[in-house]
Amino acid sequence: MKVQIRSHHPSHDALRGAMELPFKSVVRLGSTTNLEDTVTNGGDRIECNTIESIKNSSNKLLMKKRFTEFSVKTADWWTISTDGNSFYPSDNRSTSIPIRDMQYPLVGKYIYGSRNTGNTLIKSKEELVNWFQGKNASQYIVEKFFNYSQEFRLHCTEEGYFYACRKGLKSDTPENQRWYRNDSNCVWYIESNPLFNRPSTWNLIVAECVKALKAVKLDIGGFDVRVNGDGKFIIIESNSACSHADITTQKYLEAIPNVLKRKYDIHHGYIPAMGRTVNTPIVNGSDFDIDRSQTDTIDDSAERPNALLEVDDDTSPEEETMQDDVNIHARASVPVNDIDIMSIVEKLIEYPQERISKKELLNLILR
Ligand SMILES: Nc1ncnc2c1ncn2[C@@H]1O[C@H](COP(=O)(O)OP(=O)(O)O)[C@@H](O)[C@H]1O
Ligand SMILES: [Mg+2]
Repeated sequence: MKVQIRSHHPSHDALRGAMELPFKSVVRLGSTTNLEDTVTNGGDRIECNTIESIKNSSNKLLMKKRFTEFSVKTADWWTISTDGNSFYPSDNRSTSIPIRDMQYPLVGKYIYGSRNTGNTLIKSKEELVNWFQGKNASQYIVEKFFNYSQEFRLHCTEEGYFYACRKGLKSDTPENQRWYRNDSNCVWYIESNPLFNRPSTWNLIVAECVKALKAVKLDIGGFDVRVNGDGKFIIIESNSACSHADITTQKYLEAIPNVLKRKYDIHHGYIPAMGRTVNTPIVNGSDFDIDRSQTDTIDDSAERPNALLEVDDDTSPEEETMQDDVNIHARASVPVNDIDIMSIVEKLIEYPQERISKKELLNLILR
């Protein structure tokens, strides 16, 4: 059966009719068209990107709320009082910041904006007042502007990124258009190009994008990430309807069926396709060194758990033969959705110590 594509973007036409699976499915890229027979509606049509996820992602206020709720590294942001004189950090209505205390530069954003329509760089209180004139406060947010020198677009599923580009600013871009990066002022460098300049914190960036993907509940999406020379970064936004060039199309043609098959498996109560790694015993022994230097295998699902866990050499032979090895497969009574290697990897990366006991590891996994 053909995978149905729901999108209003002409560059997605190349995906139509191009994928077949042995079950009914639909992929939404920016579209919120309802279909009667989807899993969401109690049917069995498998969805890649639910309507809810598209709505979360395409409304910058909902997106930022979800990012904040899930502690995604994103620019500090504020909603605005009706009169434009007070600002609510992360829409927290119990704390309001008077306009005189706001710091600059900021970016003013129309919450339904896309492709850089509706964004304004604001450098002073006067510019903020001018920008806000005549605006309906509920449709705008402001956020801190991060002047990080590089920007990347990572296309992700919950298994990690499957395609990435760096947005290189064209040298002839006029000064007042140099603060943002989009098709109009950028050259896109693919990963095999030396000018891609992969940041030192790449694996953390990937993990953060996956966190952001889950925060807005997308199954597939593109993330704009700004990064400075030290590898510090912020997730600017999620996109459910990125424009595709030829390589993007090829990469989506490979990634989409995997997402749909995994969701099919989950829907039918199987360990998901990604869970091939779940069958690998990931813990042997009792104490483990966490090796964060080897996380570049993060996008290679089969390698992930082992890349992060090294069995402590001091483990005594008795301990090694103990039959209480933790094997995630044996824990399959945990709801399938909870067995999520990527989130374990994320947790390990952020784990404050270099060693982890079996008990703590189990807690992390089952939490
Ligand atoms: N807080 C910010 N700090 C730095 N750059 C930003 C910020 N917000 C937006 N930009 C720049 O503007 C571009 C467009 O903003 P974005 O939020 O992605 O909106 P759009 O939906 O128009 O793509 C981003 O790709 C980035 O280059
Ligand atoms: Mg964008």
